[in-house]
Amino acid sequence: MDNVEFLKGEIEHIPLPDNSVDVIISNCVINLSADKDRVLREAFRVLKPGGRLAVSDVVTRGDMLPEIRQSILAWVGCIAGALEENDYRSKLAAAGFEHIELEPTRIYRVDDAREFLTGQGIDVDAIASQVDGKFFSAFVRAVKPTGDAPKSCCGPTCCS
Ligand SMILES: C[S@@+](CC[C@H](N)C(=O)[O-])C[C@H]1O[C@@H](n2cnc3c(N)ncnc32)[C@H](O)[C@@H]1O
Repeated sequence: MDNVEFLKGEIEHIPLPDNSVDVIISNCVINLSADKDRVLREAFRVLKPGGRLAVSDVVTRGDMLPEIRQSILAWVGCIAGALEENDYRSKLAAAGFEHIELEPTRIYRVDDAREFLTGQGIDVDAIASQVDGKFFSAFVRAVKPTGDAPKSCCGPTCCS
């Protein structure tokens, strides 16, 4: 292939110039970063206006006890910690993204982690409601705004 280039870098410091990327894809990497605000700001920086973020990531839903959260995230291999879905939306918006969507692709049930949690000495039935349906894989999509006037703008002065 002569239209492919590999660059070594970290998602907290993407070795690309501003406004240079059409689409960012990734699978199960953002949850591994200890500085997700920085990752999302970097993604926003390198995207062209109108560029799209379309990644897959592990996400959590709602509040839960920290020790349960840690056990499950260790089970899914997500050591730094997945974002709670509303925090993910807030951080994307704070980085400047719009048209933010989180679409679950696999929702983890308590039985998925039963063997692992039992092996950790955890009474799984006692914490089932803290686990069931609270961890999921998701498509995370967002767009860097173009800065254009809204499409509903009807004339040269109506948006000013
Ligand atoms: C769970 S694997 C996913 C790999 C691949 N995307 C896949 O779907 O098979 C996570 C990858 O992210 C890389 N990684 C972890 N933290 C990173 C960071 N801060 N910047 C860039 N890559 C990172 C790891 O080295 C590893 O290759």
